Formats: sequence, C-alpha cells, structure tokens
Amino acid sequence: MSETTGSDDDRYEFDGFAFIGRTFAEYERMLGLGGIDLDGLRVLDCPGGACGFTAGAVARGADAYAVDPVYALPFDDLAARGREDAARAVDGLDGVEHLYRWDFYDDPAELATYRRASLARFLAHRRAAPGRYVAAGLPDLPFPDDAFDFVCSAHLLFLYADRLDHAFHVAALRELCRVARGEVRVFPLHDFGADRYAALDDLLLDLERAGYDPAVEPVPFEFQRGADDCLRIEV
Ligand SMILES: C[S@@+](CC[C@H](N)C(=O)[O-])C[C@H]1O[C@@H](n2cnc3c(N)ncnc32)[C@H](O)[C@@H]1O
Repeated sequence: MSETTGSDDDRYEFDGFAFIGRTFAEYERMLGLGGIDLDGLRVLDCPGGACGFTAGAVARGADAYAVDPVYALPFDDLAARGREDAARAVDGLDGVEHLYRWDFYDDPAELATYRRASLARFLAHRRAAPGRYVAAGLPDLPFPDDAFDFVCSAHLLFLYADRLDHAFHVAALRELCRVARGEVRVFPLHDFGADRYAALDDLLLDLERAGYDPAVEPVPFEFQRGADDCLRIEV
C-alpha cells in the first residue's frame, strides 16, 4: 500500500504508485485531444488507474480498454484503495501548493472533487464492463501488435522517474508503440519535482531509430508548473 511520506518545500512526495485517476475532460486537456473523434477507434489507456477516460471514450463510440496492475484486486479492495489514494494524493499538496498553477483547478478542494468524480466513473464502469479493465503492466502488454488506433499513457512514465529507470522508459515506450497502429500520447514529461525528464532526447532518438515519429507538442493544460506539453508518437 502506498503512503505519502510528507512533502518538503520544493517537492511533492508519494511513496509507491498512486492509484488515482483523471476525468475524461482532464485527459482531453492533458493529452491535447481536442478535435480527435474517438468514435469507432480502438483505444488503450495504460496506466488506466482510477480514470473516467475509458468510460468516456466508450460513451463516445470507442472500443476502449484500460490496463493497470492494480486491476487484479477484488472490486471492493480496488474501491477502498482508490478512495484512500485519492485523499492522500490531495493531502500531499499541503505545503507545496506553490509548485502548481491553480487555474484549471481553483484550489485543492476542487482538485479533490475531480479525483472523486473520476473514481466514481471508473468504479461504475469497471462494474458494468469489467472486460474493458485488464490487469497487466508495462513493459509487457497482453495485446498483439498494432491492436489500437490510439494509445495514451499519463502520470507514470517520466513522473515516477525517481523509481522507474531509463531502461524501463525505453521498454515501456516501445511496448506502447508496438500495440499501437495510429499514435501514442504521453503526459507529463516532468517528474514530481517539476524537472523535465533528463534523457528525453535519448528516448526520442531511440524511438526514431525504431521507426517511429516522436514529437513534443504543447497542450492546453498546465498544473505542475512548466508541464504543459506531451509526447506524441506517430507509429
Ligand atoms: C498516478 S496513476 C495514473 C493513472 C492515470 N493514467 C492518470 O493519469 O490519472 C499511476 C498508475 O500507474 C499504475 N502502474 C504502476 N506500475 C505500472 C506498470 N508497470 N504498468 C502500468 N501501470 C502501472 C499504478 O497502479 C497507478 O494506477
């Protein structure tokens, strides 16, 4: 079980990986999805966390799936873990609010309402459509090559760079590209200290050498200061 360790003045801290999630509206902004019509597309969200994205994508006509190792938990444990981590993630902002821009969210209380809304949407959809939530993890996804038109990955790669090494990032990005036949988007490109991933250029080069077309593009969202772009890879 993950626990906050407390945050110092210039860094948000969260032990382990937070089982929290974003709403479809947050993903739309973070991943720059404005204008993308998901209707009829096969979509993957990895990690899916406690997100409302897959439910929202299905409601928009997509054949969407989410992958997260935590989905192996029984439903009630998943719900309890989601509630606990959502509360802890917001509590962890105490004292480090200055590291964030409070325009999309007015304040931590509003952020908490997004986290609760996302968890509720996730739990309702997980109950209604359990087959869309697959217990697995990067860098090994249980899907054939080219299985998805659109693949997104938020708040795992780069964000947890203090505990996921470079080899993991290389393997995970290649795996996301392997299962994609359209494009992959990743957000954010920064860690909890708001530092941009130091070896991002090496990763882009590795993806190019593997035959993909990566680009860093601005998105209409900034919460962590400076984290206002995403990685977009055409495969
Ligand atoms: C902060 S949440 C992000 C969830 C969601 N993508 C979002 O943006 O809100 C991080 C998630 O990564 C999951 N995770 C940890 N290790 C993973 C791995 N190797 N592969 C896929 N997901 C993993 C955790 O279980 C957790 O749900």
